[in-house]
Amino acid sequence: MLNEILVGRDLFDLAKYGSKGMGYIAKHIVGDKGETHLTTPVLFDLSRPHILGLFGKRGQGKSYTMGNLIEELMLFPDNIRRNLAGVVIDTMGIYWSMKYPNDRDSELLSEWGLKPRAFDINLMIPFGHKKLFEDDNVPFDSIFSFKPSELNTSDWALSFNIELDTEMGILLQRVMKQILGTGNYSIDDIIEVIKDEDAEKLTKENLINRFIVADEWGIFNQDGSNIHSIVKPGKVTVIDVSHFSQASGGWSVKSLVVGLLSRKILDARIKARRMEEEESLEGGSGEGHMPITWMFIDEAHEFLPMVGTTAASLPLLQWVKVGREPGVSLVLATQMPNKLHQEAISQCDLVLTHRLTSSKDIDALTQVMQSYMKYGIENYFDTLPKVKGAALVLDDNSEKLIPVRVRPRMSWHAGGSPIAIKD
Ligand SMILES: Nc1ncnc2c1ncn2[C@@H]1O[C@H](COP(=O)(O)OP(=O)(O)O)[C@@H](O)[C@H]1O
Ligand SMILES: [Mg+2]
Repeated sequence: MLNEILVGRDLFDLAKYGSKGMGYIAKHIVGDKGETHLTTPVLFDLSRPHILGLFGKRGQGKSYTMGNLIEELMLFPDNIRRNLAGVVIDTMGIYWSMKYPNDRDSELLSEWGLKPRAFDINLMIPFGHKKLFEDDNVPFDSIFSFKPSELNTSDWALSFNIELDTEMGILLQRVMKQILGTGNYSIDDIIEVIKDEDAEKLTKENLINRFIVADEWGIFNQDGSNIHSIVKPGKVTVIDVSHFSQASGGWSVKSLVVGLLSRKILDARIKARRMEEEESLEGGSGEGHMPITWMFIDEAHEFLPMVGTTAASLPLLQWVKVGREPGVSLVLATQMPNKLHQEAISQCDLVLTHRLTSSKDIDALTQVMQSYMKYGIENYFDTLPKVKGAALVLDDNSEKLIPVRVRPRMSWHAGGSPIAIKD
């Protein structure tokens, strides 16, 4: 046991499972600045629910490290993997490249005792973005959509950026009151209801326009994806939301997608948990068909901001607050931890942070785990070597701070340059 550092595992699980269900993410850095060397492998617990904060300023390796966590989920032996699933919110459209091995770094990988390897991720895109992907020659596996009837008043208001106490907000509430509960209605059905409402002509036209634009987001149809086509046992699904442009209110659409997914997954997990418990009472296998789910969110401060509310805020806060019980886990990556919702920061039981320089971001971190840090965290950053992947790991469970270097990726990391794969 001494030759591995196990992060996020309590003593009970340690005694029972050892290092089973843990992912190899990094190596411990020993020494100071010029004279550092890598020693013990650092493994992260991926079998229990966690809230993992992944921080660091731009270009330091957050998205890359997130890829390592995803790889590890998919490397578990079948008996563990089939109880887990991953959903990646890909804001930059970079995780498709996990389908290709990281051949370019094969030498580096072999220094770590690893080999380049392709991963069979399930790449899903909004059904309305098919042509965009085909034109860009980016392969995808399937499409997703939501039913308009799955949205409540506040989902629409937040996505449209409408205050509920304005004229348009009041009209929206009246319309939703009429149509909610009338079955599987379409956006056209909503528009018809607006037309029939007794309200200012301009207000009606403006609201109708919002719904026409919403139709163009390419995420709504009356079929709607079943959550089991998105969350599959043993699989990692990458949800590519990179094509929602600024023009059509990009971040509010992305937030809506995350909000709807989080809600559906949590509901399904709560049901599955109940079934698992009933089964285990009867001595069954205890395995529901809805696996324990990890959601990986890049640019998390856009979805769950400190200030303001998005369509993802409430559903994600639910995960943060009650996720342990039904078994949902979150990885929240951001270059600005001080812009991330206070509750999310304070609920992180694991943190992997690459270098941060802004004092506000460092302060945000200090709040999380100051109880067991001898010095200010900036002192610990100072001791890190200036190499890619250098980071600090903070483990609430063992109250330890561990300087690490994150391992190289087995699969291709597209970073910000998707063309690189052609060479
Ligand atoms: N652990 C690592 N080992 C080797 N190279 C890394 C590592 N982490 C990051 N890099 C390099 O740094 C680049 C930027 O990392 P990235 O994760 O995209 O940054 P960001 O923090 O902005 O998400 C990557 O494209 C990769 O080349
Ligand atoms: Mg990134």
